[in-house]
Amino acid sequence: MDLTMRGVTKSFGANNALRGVDFRLSGGEICALLGENGAGKSTLMNILGGVVPRDSGDVLIDGKPVSFAGPKYSLAAGIAFIHQELNLINDLTVYENLFLGREPRTRSGAIDIPRMRSEGRRMLEGMGVDLDVNAMTRGLDASYKQIVEIARAMMAAASIIIMDEPTSSLTDPEIERVFAMMRALRGQGVGIVFISHKLREVARIADRYAVLRDGEMVAEGNVADVTASDLARFMVGRDVRADALSQRLRSPRSVLRAERLTGNGFRDVSFDVHAGEILGFTGLLGDGRSELFLSIFGAGGPYTGSVYLDGKPFHPRGATRAADNGLAYLPRNRKENGIIPDMDALENGSIVVWPKISRFGFIDRRRQGDMFAGQVRALRIKLAKPTDMITSLSGGNQQKVVLAKWLSSNPRVLILDNPTQGVDVGAKEEIYDIILGLARQGVAIALLSSEAQEIIRVCDRALVMYHGAVAGEAWGETMRERAIMRLATGAGV
Ligand SMILES: Nc1ncnc2c1ncn2[C@@H]1O[C@H](COP(=O)(O)OP(=O)(O)OP(=O)(O)O)[C@@H](O)[C@H]1O
Ligand SMILES: [Mg+2]
Repeated sequence: MDLTMRGVTKSFGANNALRGVDFRLSGGEICALLGENGAGKSTLMNILGGVVPRDSGDVLIDGKPVSFAGPKYSLAAGIAFIHQELNLINDLTVYENLFLGREPRTRSGAIDIPRMRSEGRRMLEGMGVDLDVNAMTRGLDASYKQIVEIARAMMAAASIIIMDEPTSSLTDPEIERVFAMMRALRGQGVGIVFISHKLREVARIADRYAVLRDGEMVAEGNVADVTASDLARFMVGRDVRADALSQRLRSPRSVLRAERLTGNGFRDVSFDVHAGEILGFTGLLGDGRSELFLSIFGAGGPYTGSVYLDGKPFHPRGATRAADNGLAYLPRNRKENGIIPDMDALENGSIVVWPKISRFGFIDRRRQGDMFAGQVRALRIKLAKPTDMITSLSGGNQQKVVLAKWLSSNPRVLILDNPTQGVDVGAKEEIYDIILGLARQGVAIALLSSEAQEIIRVCDRALVMYHGAVAGEAWGETMRERAIMRLATGAGV
């Protein structure tokens, strides 16, 4: 298999998303497609996959021009696509999603359900995932949905696999297994396009790289010839900081305190977040950290145990009450939980601050606009105008809009679940600066993250969870990736 894209252009209105892009991929190689949020990565791959039509340019597979009228046709031609947005049908079971569009048949022509079940089960076992193939997809956490998407693409017997940020909500051991499967497919001659903002991953898995900046291909080469900071520089156009961040002072005053919380997905969890402290929570898939904080915020399931805010019992009924009390909560997987797709970027970015910017029931449009403009600058959100629909922004820029909204809500307690998921390396550093700045102003921050590196760089202290319980605490000398991994896998310290 040999893929060549030549002179590909695509505009959305006045926005030139791709300006004459060349891209090639051979069978048996993994090519990383890199670039800042909004650089055009997904658009280029959507054109290859027949999801959006191109304005001009050629796509050739084994020298033959191709053009797919829809994803169905590209799949039939041997191109499997793992989309940045999860793309499963919620009302189907896991095994039905795994075989969607290519269901195996029995000799009599009926759909071979036992075979779907057993092959699906084998695939998931091979990925080391404890997931029932008969489960309904709707009820799955987004990380599991991501696993199902990956499994589906890997089972499709494709000659090209496009992976658009497949690992954004997975943790290291799961990513490791995905990588092992990618290497096996590469060995069988499959060509893989791998899109990721995690440059350390890219350095480990990819053979070649191609970097887009503002719709143009600006750098290409062999991964072995460059460092991760070289790649960051190609993407952003300047050096990106990688050194340690300053340590903060934590005040003795406890702001958010949890005592022996037990609920669906977590048990016997106690902790204390002080003013000015950034307390990390990490663990593997199924560790329960998100369920825990959803419950505390009043948006999850019921629990037993006590929560105190500034020393007073705190049991909000519903998320609005929690927000009134100065709690801000950035949910993970903003695609599913954070954005309001029918609204524009400005509305999505300022909805929680409405009480602050409205007078006599009317929204002060000028203040709203000024605040949003400030956020756009600070987080380098790429959009043409604030009234662009949120869904027309690139994946990472949508994430930034939702993050901006919570950062600007002036909270006393800030709960951030995977705050830099899908965000490019440059903007990540800006986000860390904002989080540290809020801590310096005395905000108590709980940072939930699947990336051990992020926890180590930003947090003073971290609780590592395993199957819903706190497996141990890391701070100072124990804030090391190996120590965190040992706790996260239940191996003890
Ligand atoms: N359906 C659409 N309508 C309007 N503009 C769009 C649409 N899809 C993409 N764009 C614009 O095209 C540009 C490239 O977006 P794209 O999604 O390809 O970026 P990306 O490199 O994948 O970024 P990210 O890392 O954030 O996913 C952005 O400016 C985006 O706003
Ligand atoms: Mg994208």
